[in-house]
Amino acid sequence: MKKIGILTGGGDAPGLNAVIRAAVKTAINEFGCEVFGIRNGYDGFLEADGIVPLGMREVRGILPRGGTILGAANRGNPYARKVIRDGEEVTIDVSNEIVKEIKKLKMDALLVLGGDGTLHIAHELAQKGVPVIGLPKTIDNDIGGTEVTFGFDTALNIATDALDRLHTTAESHHRAMVLELMGRDAGFIALQAGVSGGADVILIPEIPFKFESVIKKIRERAEKGSMFSILAVSEGAKPQDGGQIFSRQGDEVYVPRLGGVGQVVAAYIEDQGFESRVTVLGHLQRGGTPTAFDRMLATRYGAASVRLAARGGFDRMVALRCGEITDLPLVEATAVPKRVNVNGDAVITARNIGISFGDES
Ligand code: F6P
Repeated sequence: MKKIGILTGGGDAPGLNAVIRAAVKTAINEFGCEVFGIRNGYDGFLEADGIVPLGMREVRGILPRGGTILGAANRGNPYARKVIRDGEEVTIDVSNEIVKEIKKLKMDALLVLGGDGTLHIAHELAQKGVPVIGLPKTIDNDIGGTEVTFGFDTALNIATDALDRLHTTAESHHRAMVLELMGRDAGFIALQAGVSGGADVILIPEIPFKFESVIKKIRERAEKGSMFSILAVSEGAKPQDGGQIFSRQGDEVYVPRLGGVGQVVAAYIEDQGFESRVTVLGHLQRGGTPTAFDRMLATRYGAASVRLAARGGFDRMVALRCGEITDLPLVEATAVPKRVNVNGDAVITARNIGISFGDES
């Protein structure tokens, strides 16, 4: 193994730089490899200056840094790339060009740090002979093949801190405070932050809610003298009699953008006579320095991916299972996206301590 490439695809997540650093150090220290970074996801293969050398100097000091030193592009799908042809925007498949570039560069392995979409593309490229290895990145924690993705713990801590802060102002003003959280179709951030941050109501995509049930909880609290309530609402949460709420529709390049359910829930609460405010935590969940847990996990994934490359374990993804780093075929890892187990102990525990999921009668 002489030459390794690393790319970061999709939205950024805290820990990307920690992975890059660990992979570069392991590749150089243990295998004497040259490492190259591909800028802006798969796009870098087609851009001038899209490939940059990564040595010890380039990764110095990046362990605690959020974002990615390589840049990200969450529309960077080689199978559907928007380009201007004859003055018109068209969508084309550039996957074969990318494969050609990778082969020209004679890379012995390509480490792909990404979420669901990026890892699916990695598997497709593997079918065309690219020696890819996947690393599970996303704050949503929704990749089936691993117990935890890197980035999730940091987002969870930021969300929990936000709930703590909302508590003090909610109590002072006797208000219902709604915090809208990210996660797409998975409710892990809202569930775990909601429990850790003492929310009274948690709304997640996996448990469709009834507005009447939400207000019942707030009313019961008020009757018992708690004149404020805290609601952790996943952006993908949906009412039993309606669908998810989007702030932008998708197309063949852009995935639909969720957003707005917090506002809808807060407006309903206000209509029922309880003063309410909404906070959308948004990209604060993805920014800034990773937690110690994410730095450690990212470092373990980074080093393990290089060891896997040296063993020739391509078209596979590194994963955390029972506390140990292991690996499995990419196709298996991405076959079924991970969702909150609605009958699992986390949900049962939340119900035991009186948290409403908005589905109670
Ligand atoms: O998948 C990560 C994520 O942060 C989701 O939780 C969120 O819905 C989405 O990306 C936001 O994407 P963008 O950065 O394109 O607004």
